Amino acid sequence: MPVLGFDVFATLVDPAGIADPLRPFAGERTDELVGEWRRSQLEYAFRCAAMGQYRPFDRVTRAALDRALALTGIDIPDSGREDLVAAWTRLPAFSDAAPALAALRARGHRCLAFSNGTEKSLEALLDHAGLAAHLDDVLSVETVGTYKPAPAVYEHLLNAGGGERGATWLVSGNAWDVIGAGAAGLATAWLQRDEGKPFDPWDYTPDRIVPGLHRLPEVPPFDGA
Ligand code: LAC
Repeated sequence: MPVLGFDVFATLVDPAGIADPLRPFAGERTDELVGEWRRSQLEYAFRCAAMGQYRPFDRVTRAALDRALALTGIDIPDSGREDLVAAWTRLPAFSDAAPALAALRARGHRCLAFSNGTEKSLEALLDHAGLAAHLDDVLSVETVGTYKPAPAVYEHLLNAGGGERGATWLVSGNAWDVIGAGAAGLATAWLQRDEGKPFDPWDYTPDRIVPGLHRLPEVPPFDGA
């Protein structure tokens, strides 16, 4: 039976939801600030992995917010910044997440959340998003002390998932995450949530490409056929 590790931000929950608590501060520049914040958050996590110096994702997220505010010249007081970092635990689930997880688990597939987030924040987030009950386990890179796409984190998914390498899947809406898992020898499914956005130009093709989680239970080897 396949083991499925689901990325969280951009796969099970929608990071675009962070715009709502930002809007009172950033007004019509909210999208710009969201873009800068998310870009810096990923860049800082990549840097931690490359430097071999782990720091928790909440701290990475806070530093990224400080940088995004400095770049855009938008001012938010310190207390507001802490609340905004906490808002990452209140992002909404994609509407196809719970039904897809339920369908996959009904077929006996093991479904895990697998994310850069800290264990504590992931638990709060998945609980709030109504997804915790649909997951067999929640895996954080915190256990490994580095970030995606370092090979060690995908090895963690393989070991903790208890499946064979070729039957352990990374499901993600992030192309760089899919490429990282593929490089570690895992099977991959890429969610092309945005039809107009092609896969990264890389010498790698995901094993499955689906437009959303709702389609995943229909494709082999997840279709129960
Ligand atoms: C995660 C981010 C990278 O959940 O999407 O790991």
